[in-house]
This record gives sequence, structure tokens and C-alpha cells, in this order.
Amino acid sequence: MKHTSRYPFSISLLHWLLTVALFGNLIIGWMLDDNEDLLTLHKSIGIVILFLVSVRVANRLRMRRRLPPSTNRPGTPAYLAEKAVHHLLYVLMLAIPLLGWLKTNAAGHVASCFGLFSLPTLVSKSRDLSHWLGELHALTAYGLAALVGLHVLGALAHRVLKSENILPRILPLPRRVEQKMPTSDRG
Ligand code: HEM
Ligand code: HEM
Repeated sequence: MKHTSRYPFSISLLHWLLTVALFGNLIIGWMLDDNEDLLTLHKSIGIVILFLVSVRVANRLRMRRRLPPSTNRPGTPAYLAEKAVHHLLYVLMLAIPLLGWLKTNAAGHVASCFGLFSLPTLVSKSRDLSHWLGELHALTAYGLAALVGLHVLGALAHRVLKSENILPRILPLPRRVEQKMPTSDRG
């Protein structure tokens, strides 16, 4: 089975930290059901996620010249699909907490993070806007879950169709283990 070169440690670490945080907050969001304590927790975790996603995007830009090349050949449908899905995942990761923040403001509340600080109020109270932002927040959150399903299917397709194990590329393993792995001719 072929192995390829690896993503930098910071990229892998943030990938898995945010995978856990996003799914955790998705499940909390799904369970909200008018529970005020759970909503306060959901908003606080969401604000931490917004911060972590901003760090992730900045770090991705900083590391852009140190990334392993795609395992798909540039210009092929698989390559274009991979790039489209990754870009959309970044857009959704940013849009979901931003929409949650705006929805909270439109409902007439401030978005507070564990009572430690509050985000600035960006829109004034509006019943209609609050409704639509809430709908968009839910749609993008469930859309993210569906897109992650596609993303995982893509990784599985590499394994099944091309006998390529791409998972180690994104695992935050120590460098010692990384060096034992053969690198591909494209890595
Ligand atoms: C970043 C990760 C986040 C995820 C994955 C997420 C996900 C969700 C989900 C799945 C729901 C339930 C939607 C439904 O079924 O109607 C929800 C509701 C909600 N979320 Fe988030 N959320 C996130 C961040 C935030 C943030 C940062 C805020 C505000 C600061 C927020 C505020 C809300 C509010 C107010 C609701 C209730 C919406 C309503 O009553 O229509 N969320 N969220
Ligand atoms: C909330 C969940 C997830 C999000 C938002 C997400 C997002 C991303 C993004 C944006 C990248 C591209 C990294 C870059 O070039 O900047 C990536 C890479 C990757 N992800 Fe995820 N991911 C999630 C969950 C998962 C899961 C559950 C798996 C398990 C199979 C996975 C496997 C991978 C792999 C193998 C790569 C490297 C792809 C390559 O070879 O280039 N991801 N992920």
C-alpha cells in the first residue's frame, strides 16, 4: 500500500481538534430543545470554535508552501472535487459560527463566551432576521455534516479504488514515526 508525505503537525492537530469540537457542538445544537443552559454552552463552545477556525485558516495560509501535494492528478475530476470540498469545508466552518453569532444578536442577545467576554453586537433585534439567520445556521450546520460524509467517502475511495492510505497524511503523529514511512514519488 502506498504512503504519501504528511501535512505539517499544526495543520493535522487543528484538523482533529476541530473535527471533535464541531461534531460535539453539532450534537449539542441538535439537542438544544429550548434548554437555556445548553444554549449558553453551545454559544460559548461555538465562539471558541470560531477562534480556532480563524487560527486554522491563518495557519493554513502561513503553511501554504509546505503542504504535501495532492494525491490526485491536477486537472482531473477527483482533484477538482477534492479542492471544491476542502474550500467549501473552510467556508462552512467559518459561516456556521458567524451565522450563530448574528442570529443571537438578531434575537436581541449578546453572544457571550463562558461569561468571560462578549462578542460585539453586529445586527439589531429583528424577529424576521432572527428567524432566517436561525434557519441558515441550521442548514449550514447540517450541510457541514453531509459534506464531511462526502469528505470521508473520498478518503475511503482512495483506499478501496487506488489502494492508497491517505489517512496518515493528516494524522498528528510524532516525526519519528513519520520518517519510517516511505514517501511517494510525488511527496
Ligand atoms: C461552530 C459551531 C456550531 C455548530 C456546529 C452549530 C450547530 C447548531 C445546530 C445543529 C443547531 C440546531 C439547529 C436546528 O436544528 O434548528 C444550532 C442552533 C443554534 N445555535 Fe449553533 N452552532 C455552532 C455555533 C454557534 C454559535 C457561535 C452561536 C452563537 C454565538 C450559535 C447559536 C445558536 C442558536 C441561538 C441556536 C438556536 C437556533 C434557533 O433557535 O433557531 N451557534 N446550532
Ligand atoms: C468536521 C469534520 C472535518 C472537517 C471540517 C475536515 C476538513 C478538512 C480539510 C479542510 C482538509 C484539507 C486540509 C488542507 O489542505 O487545508 C482535510 C484534509 C483531510 N481530512 Fe478532513 N475534515 C473533517 C473530518 C475528517 C474525518 C472524520 C476524516 C477521516 C477519514 C478526515 C480525513 C481527512 C484526510 C485523510 C485529509 C487529507 C487529505 C489529503 O490527502 O490531502 N477528515 N479535512
